[in-house]
Amino acid sequence: MADNVKLELGGKTSEYPVLSGTVGPDVVDIRKLYAATGAFTYDPGFTSTASCQSAITYIDGDEGVLLHRGYPIDQLAEQSSFMEVSYLLLNGQLPSAKELEDFTYTISRHTMLHEQLATFYRGFRRDAHPMAIMCGVVGALSAFYHDSTDINDPKQRMIASHRLIAKMPTIAAMAYKYSVGQPFLYPKNDLSYTGNFLRMTFGVPAEEYEIDPVIESAMDKIFILHADHEQNASTSTVRLAGSSGANPFACIAAGIACLWGPAHGGANEAALNMLREIGTPDRIPEYIARAKNKDDPFRLMGFGHRVYKNFDPRAKVLGKAATEVLDKLGINDPVLDTARELEQIALKDQYFIDKKLYPNVDFYSGVILSAIGFPTTMFTVLFALARTVGWVAQWNEMISDPEQKIGRPRQLYTGAANRDYVPVSQR
Ligand code: ACO
Repeated sequence: MADNVKLELGGKTSEYPVLSGTVGPDVVDIRKLYAATGAFTYDPGFTSTASCQSAITYIDGDEGVLLHRGYPIDQLAEQSSFMEVSYLLLNGQLPSAKELEDFTYTISRHTMLHEQLATFYRGFRRDAHPMAIMCGVVGALSAFYHDSTDINDPKQRMIASHRLIAKMPTIAAMAYKYSVGQPFLYPKNDLSYTGNFLRMTFGVPAEEYEIDPVIESAMDKIFILHADHEQNASTSTVRLAGSSGANPFACIAAGIACLWGPAHGGANEAALNMLREIGTPDRIPEYIARAKNKDDPFRLMGFGHRVYKNFDPRAKVLGKAATEVLDKLGINDPVLDTARELEQIALKDQYFIDKKLYPNVDFYSGVILSAIGFPTTMFTVLFALARTVGWVAQWNEMISDPEQKIGRPRQLYTGAANRDYVPVSQR
């Protein structure tokens, strides 16, 4: 642990301990600041604030490093599976062969939804955004699984976590089926987690669905790459919602709502829409100029990141996967050429260099998902599906942390000071 930090405020000196993690920056423990000085810290967007301690995921944004429980994301994406990464995030270590088999079996036993939940879908308009459906249906799970909502019971917490991981593909696939007017397909538990999701999404009851191993493997990789990302906006939302003791299904619904925004999970949809709008590489300079123009709100979607000031390591894996998938599927999509060219031009442009703006995970994922056959509105749903394991792992960690308190930020008040009410007749 480094030395204490001394602060002089209002003629008084107070001292604060500096805490060190395993790796990464030290943090100044300011929990006693208000009691000692009567002052708060001001940090909109939490750019310099650690809201919790966590042993799940580590990011070094300057170096472009992402570790889950210590394992680099590129090794996990290339060599592991989404089920194994889920076990790792939830339990802290890689499973033995038997543990992985048992975990996969357990997840497969929770894939079905209560039949009554299917009727919820019919209440939505057919053109509803599938994220709107996800928010509603996932929140509604709390009304169906009362036997796993006692958050103080670790066993119930684990059952709720398994339920959420297992049911998310079913819920997501049903949201898609509803939008295209096709019948829902029940899960088939002899398939892999990802294969089962693909079949429920693209299969029809009238014929057998053949899973393409290239697509199955690319999809699994996308799930791994989105599984967790430490204290991002949606994960912090899940933790904040959970800090009041809310049940896990409600907390994950809150996370889904936050993820929906275009600055977060909605960016892959926005990135592909932008690439399609650009259309051909010759129009790239026009869009680069717009992104640099202070008076134009346009931003290059899929570029820039709050934490990564270097390549997002997930973008590197996905950039490679995009070429592989499109090649193997024999798809020649001009959008991929536009993306590659845009990446090269932006990386050499002084504006992007100065501001350390690099492609993020969303830049290439849309190209792959579109090649697989997903409409853009489903992109964020797939992100939510994969991120559910990260959310539940973080939520479990928070509930079992003895230092956990209800999340309650302070503010710098800039409104009117105390003033007397004036009756409307005198205003
Ligand atoms: N295009 C053009 N300029 C940009 C971009 C961009 N994509 N991103 C940031 N900038 C500029 C800003 O205009 C700002 O310039 P200024 O200093 O002259 O005002 C500077 O870079 C810093 O931008 P901030 O918004 O302050 O950076 P912040 O860390 O808060 O934002 C964010 C990060 C929201 C991701 C931002 O880069 C962005 O909007 N990117 C596009 C959306 C996107 O791809 N989101 C996906 C994020 S990854 C994920 O959620 C999984």
